[in-house]
Amino acid sequence: MMESGTAILARAETAVEVSLGARSYPVIIGERLLAAAGQWVAATLPGARCAVVSDANVAALHLAPLKASLVEHGLFLGEALVAPGEASKSFPVLATLCERLLELGVERGDCVIAFGGGVVGDLAGFAASILRRGVRVVQIPTTLLAQVDSAIGGKTGIDTKQGKNLIGTFHQPSLVLADVSVLATLSPREFRAGYAEVVKYGLIGDAPFFAWLEENFEEIFSAPGGARRRAVETSVRAKAAIVAEDEREESGKRATLNLGHSFGHALETYAGYSERLLHGEAIAIGMRLAFTYSVERGLCPPGDAARVARHLDAVGLPIKIASIPGPPPAPEALLRLMGQDKKVKDGKLALVLVRGIGQAFVERDVDMPLLTDFLIRECG
Ligand code: GLY
Repeated sequence: MMESGTAILARAETAVEVSLGARSYPVIIGERLLAAAGQWVAATLPGARCAVVSDANVAALHLAPLKASLVEHGLFLGEALVAPGEASKSFPVLATLCERLLELGVERGDCVIAFGGGVVGDLAGFAASILRRGVRVVQIPTTLLAQVDSAIGGKTGIDTKQGKNLIGTFHQPSLVLADVSVLATLSPREFRAGYAEVVKYGLIGDAPFFAWLEENFEEIFSAPGGARRRAVETSVRAKAAIVAEDEREESGKRATLNLGHSFGHALETYAGYSERLLHGEAIAIGMRLAFTYSVERGLCPPGDAARVARHLDAVGLPIKIASIPGPPPAPEALLRLMGQDKKVKDGKLALVLVRGIGQAFVERDVDMPLLTDFLIRECG
């Protein structure tokens, strides 16, 4: 049944603006937003029709209300489904997707809706950025990880055998709809993996938020109510502020969002982007490694690193390389993979390190012998 405009407004959404001048856009956080998507898109992009990119899992669970809302507003061009999983972030899938979007009749004035987790968001965002030299994209993230991180800020891309996200564009969305009610269908493992990115915001710049997470994580995990929504909202505000300050990762501010990612991406590549290790799990290990390494460098109080490891462990996230199923990686292989990181400049590795909880910074020109020694011990 069609909902009235009053009913939609009564749902008390929160809007967080990503301030980028003429390219500013809102991140709308609320419940049952899918059923109101047509209204949001029509108000944000008048005249644009929509092609929805999703994967089969998300489509089976959640496409119906989104599609009904777009059809009701006369905006639905069709859907393009990709296989679930990181393997879809590839050149062949990108090519097939672009051709499917053209077949659906997406024109310059239309938009692509990226409806899914980080994989769909990155892939569909990339396709939108190159289709007809660029069409608008609306991100409707359905995982915790995508709602608090990957759907915001315009990073798009695919993976290659050299590493993760090495091919891509910056293409800001026109609108992000973060419907927290869809998080109820995530598996506990996937929710936990996304939570690693929530913790990240506390660790990089908001020590009180980390302390609040330590106190409230059980409620965040167990119930869809206030604590969960507050965790999402706080994370979105943090991400929006960082993107507004350093959209293209030039000043070093946005690079702090990669806390744990140099280690984490290398571990993910080593694990083959598979179920062996989800992205958020790799980031949890990576953040623990970044804190431990910072302690060894005399930069961070040992008590802070212990708190971080304790909290990640308490929620059930892996914190050690040895927790990854299968044979352990060789330290040299990890170093080689870390050398593909986008923060490498003049062949020199940069790492996000910490002076304590909430105090992340980028260290350029990392001391390779020290890092090698550290990884030999951590892989052992
Ligand atoms: N996920 C890191 C960034 O958006 O910069």
